[in-house]
Amino acid sequence: MIILGIESSAHTFGVGVVRDEPPHILADVRFVYKPKTGGIHPKEASQYFMSNAPEAVKEALSKAGVKVRDLDGIAVALGPGMGPCLRVGATLARAMASYYGKPLIPVNHALAHVEIGKMLFSFKNPLIVYLSGGNTLIASFSEGRYRIFGETLDISLGNFLDTLARELGIAPPYVVSGLHQIDRCAQNGKNFIELPYVVKGQDVSFSGLLTAALKLYKSSRAELSDICYSAREIAYSAIIEVSERALAHTGNKEVLVVGGVASSPVLRSKFEVMSRLRGVELGIVPPQYAVDNGVMIAWTGLLLLKHGVHVRPEEAYVRQRWKLDQVDVPWLARTNSSGS
Ligand code: FE2
Repeated sequence: MIILGIESSAHTFGVGVVRDEPPHILADVRFVYKPKTGGIHPKEASQYFMSNAPEAVKEALSKAGVKVRDLDGIAVALGPGMGPCLRVGATLARAMASYYGKPLIPVNHALAHVEIGKMLFSFKNPLIVYLSGGNTLIASFSEGRYRIFGETLDISLGNFLDTLARELGIAPPYVVSGLHQIDRCAQNGKNFIELPYVVKGQDVSFSGLLTAALKLYKSSRAELSDICYSAREIAYSAIIEVSERALAHTGNKEVLVVGGVASSPVLRSKFEVMSRLRGVELGIVPPQYAVDNGVMIAWTGLLLLKHGVHVRPEEAYVRQRWKLDQVDVPWLARTNSSGS
């Protein structure tokens, strides 16, 4: 089976082509929108996507060495994400599916982050730690779906890091991969400063930490590097605490860290220590696939189509708040949630 997948939920317009038996990535083309100032401007991003979409599809097909007629289906991320951005991918996918008479496969973007990670590590039933610009959540599979065990009560970890870096005046407009500016700045930090550490049950909160760190910066009572170091340590520790407790509850024998923030080497070392202590296998999606891409949409589309999931083009509507726990995962339906 060969599937083409389209991703356009935020800053990346990605087109991937995959095949199975064995799983194989045939093409991975990305056009990344970089705002001149601040965060993503959805309208500007969608215009950038529209001008690059035809080229992205053409390039992906050519790299994969396939024609549209060779495809078994067109997969598209329909949510969650930014409406204007998602609509570019959805419109293109609907047009391709109708014109060429191919099955159209609706893919949840969060599920795609999970499934590409599972494919890369050959994991069966991991605890999911999903850390990105838009999401911070802990999930585990149970009775047909991934169930959310904990999430942020306000802003995501990625949003916290990006906003802090911007407000501290140390960030390029957008960090796509590599060492985050907060991690970079924290390298010179030596003194730990007490800032709000908020974990409520299985949930985390970063807005109080952000406010306190910025207040401290404006008061000029602490070194910039010490603020970065302390804020970073607190935020990452909160994530490790809720992940470890979730492992204790669920009994999962694997932990999979997915999403763009998963690429932080500092966070990685904390996960490594925690996993070793708990005796669980750790998979952290490598930067190339931790960020948004079309391959993860194509791969999840392939799994869905194998289980009969596809829709008519007119039913492929965008769902900006489509949550991970609203998606049936038929290929895991018989897996016991407690352990792999
Ligand atoms: Fe994402």
